[in-house]
Amino acid sequence: MNHFELKSVAGTGATTLHVEDVPLQEIAEQFQTPCYVYSEAAMASAFRGYQQALAGRDAMVCYAVKANSNIGLLSVFAKLGAGFDIVSGGELARVIAAGGDASKVVFSGVGKTRQEMRDAIATGIFCFNVESAAELDRLSEVALSLNKRAPIALRVNPDVDPKTHPYISTGLKCNKFGVAIAQARELYQHAASLKGLEIRGVACHIGSQLLDPAPLAEAAQKVLNLVEQLNADGITLSHIDLGGGLGIRYRDETPPTYADYLGPLLKVMAGRKEKLLFEPGRSLVGNAGVLLTRIEYLKPGEEKSFAVVDAAMNDLARPALYDAWHDIDAVTPRAGATASYEIVGPICESGDFLGHDRLLVLEEGDLLAIRSAGAYGMTMSSNYNTRPRAAEVLVHGKHVFQIREREKVADLFARERVPQP
Ligand code: LLP
Repeated sequence: MNHFELKSVAGTGATTLHVEDVPLQEIAEQFQTPCYVYSEAAMASAFRGYQQALAGRDAMVCYAVKANSNIGLLSVFAKLGAGFDIVSGGELARVIAAGGDASKVVFSGVGKTRQEMRDAIATGIFCFNVESAAELDRLSEVALSLNKRAPIALRVNPDVDPKTHPYISTGLKCNKFGVAIAQARELYQHAASLKGLEIRGVACHIGSQLLDPAPLAEAAQKVLNLVEQLNADGITLSHIDLGGGLGIRYRDETPPTYADYLGPLLKVMAGRKEKLLFEPGRSLVGNAGVLLTRIEYLKPGEEKSFAVVDAAMNDLARPALYDAWHDIDAVTPRAGATASYEIVGPICESGDFLGHDRLLVLEEGDLLAIRSAGAYGMTMSSNYNTRPRAAEVLVHGKHVFQIREREKVADLFARERVPQP
């Protein structure tokens, strides 16, 4: 089901883009722009897609908080029974503030500090996904200092090519993530000798925006071979974490369904009794959000025409950073001949664009919806050019909740000081 749809405006021949039952136009009037708008139904339906594809299998879906960490969104997933994949103490604090269950949290990341370890142990998280030998030693020491044992999985790097953008593939030998799968057996022996650790599982994550299920199944097979070797060494695991990565449609991609994505992997795991964990981010929220922006100026150029909007690369970095495509639609489409526009923001960089060469019928003051902006949009935003970050709104049916207030300029330098001589 599509949760962002053009619907007719009563009494006119016009149509306008709605999120669930609410016209985006109304949201722009109430909360101004730029504004991120999310559909709760879209998130819930994506989460249920995983649940259905995993029905009958002991499994836990841990939403990757980095994709969108607003506590309003996290609370939606907490109520749906999700676990969470975190990569910092800050993300753990958000999960707790949102009412998430710490006993369903996995903690990934190559640079966990001692303080982050202490806090996560004290909170009682499900598992640390440990990414190096040095981290095993540090975690054991920290756990012992608290008279506890830390639950661990070793994140292994299966050296599988996920066939995605090089910046977001993580399972290749050359990446900084995880430990080489060939060294894992030895490291598990070492972990077993450390008194502060309790071995629970194994983890891997090969990359993001995956459109082909085959690399994931290949990684699962490699991980399973390791699990069998470990069993032979007398080390049993209670779970296998296969990370996140399922891609979404930004433009014309055809991502697999949940069942098609997970099917080959589930076949590899058939008959195994370990609990399966997944860490999806983008596929749960990416297409559940749009960035709503208003046109400030139309600027016809000699070679190109520009639509200068009030959102910029500080709000949505993906186009500037990865040359990523996001569909851009007029909220209330106009009749007439289309023209080609560069959709750009007010920031002083040529890289500040949201879309190239878009065919639209535009006038100053029109609203645009930048699609597929629910994942890695707000979380990667910044205050570059002293631009306050956008408001965020969650829609549920006809109900609208502001889940983040727009920042105020004074907030941006509230912690700065002019030195007093
Ligand atoms: N688990 C781990 C260990 C990860 O590193 C990631 C993402 C995920 C799960 C969630 O992956 P997803 O299901 O969202 O693909 N900023 C980039 C994406 C970076 C992904 C980083 N890791 C973008 O905007 O495309």
